[in-house]
Amino acid sequence: MCNDKIILAIETSCDETSVALLKGGRKVLSNVISSQIEVHKLYGGVVPEIASRNHSDHINLVIKEAMDQSGLSFKAVELVAVTNRPGLIGALLIGVASAKAIAFSLGVPLIGVNHLEGHLAANYIEYSELKPPFIGLIVSGGHTNLAKVTGYNDFTMLGKTRDDALGEAFDKVARILGLGYPGGPLIDQLYEKGNPEAIPFKRVLLEEDTYDFSFSGIKTGVLNYVNQEKQKHQPILIEDVAASFQQSVIEVVVEKTIRAALAEKMDKIVLAGGVAANKLLRNMLKKRCEDEQIQLFYPSLDYCTDNAAMIGCAGYYKYMELGPDELDMEAYSTSFWSK
Ligand code: KG4
Ligand code: ZN
Repeated sequence: MCNDKIILAIETSCDETSVALLKGGRKVLSNVISSQIEVHKLYGGVVPEIASRNHSDHINLVIKEAMDQSGLSFKAVELVAVTNRPGLIGALLIGVASAKAIAFSLGVPLIGVNHLEGHLAANYIEYSELKPPFIGLIVSGGHTNLAKVTGYNDFTMLGKTRDDALGEAFDKVARILGLGYPGGPLIDQLYEKGNPEAIPFKRVLLEEDTYDFSFSGIKTGVLNYVNQEKQKHQPILIEDVAASFQQSVIEVVVEKTIRAALAEKMDKIVLAGGVAANKLLRNMLKKRCEDEQIQLFYPSLDYCTDNAAMIGCAGYYKYMELGPDELDMEAYSTSFWSK
């Protein structure tokens, strides 16, 4: 089978409309991303119906722009990859319907991709030498998953969040602190100005014998702290609250990830998803990996957030090993991986 296939990939699972062209699994020819963040900012979070409408308004333009930037014509496309789970169902359907239409009209195969597998695959694009096995940590606005990855299509879930996703916790705490949306990058920036030891928020589930996470308790902890200080008419040092929150959640995530790598005898950890942009997470994990002689991989900032190139890469490996999906393939809001 020809392994430098031209792939057209589509991602519309949340609030980015993205289309990419790849040659083989790892060479990106174009990767166009139209973000809706400015629209959703007005509401303090993603509004599903608005996201779907925006995808349907922009998808054709983004496809055209990605084709133009790649310098290819549609006739060159040999495979169409699209995120078909998990995500906002209305948003996913726009991408899936577009992908089916292109695959059908060109007479080329279609492959559905799990968004989480796409996030991990972003690292394959950036590190040509990277291949499984490794421990994968996917942390985004919708997901927190620790996985043992033993092949390009072999994933065992070790742990997941029991409530809020890590990015969701960042966004909710930022809202409590009146910082705006999305909150992750804002808290990340404030960390440097604050004292991370100022408020001793609980390190939830850290000592427990599980790889699962829980972030809703600390969000309530932040809310209670802010309300108590207000009642006492004490000034709230937002940067101290933000830094203490970030310190406590990142410590838990780092320790559990290292614990999983050591227990599973893995010498590589791969970080992925929007929260992989977090400076403390990258630095703390880097230091712990050096101590334990584990290699750490994380994507550049552009490849942390949602993009279609990562979906094309994951789709390539899935198609090569498992073959295509049917044209009646469905979209699903949930993952096999759960939340
Ligand atoms: O992967 P992504 O773009 O979308 C989902 O699939 O959810 O992730 C978006 C999430 C948001 O919750 C955002 O606040 C968070 O990633 N995020 C960060 C940082 N940059 C983005 N969280 C912490 N620190 C950051 N620097
Ligand atoms: Zn994502």
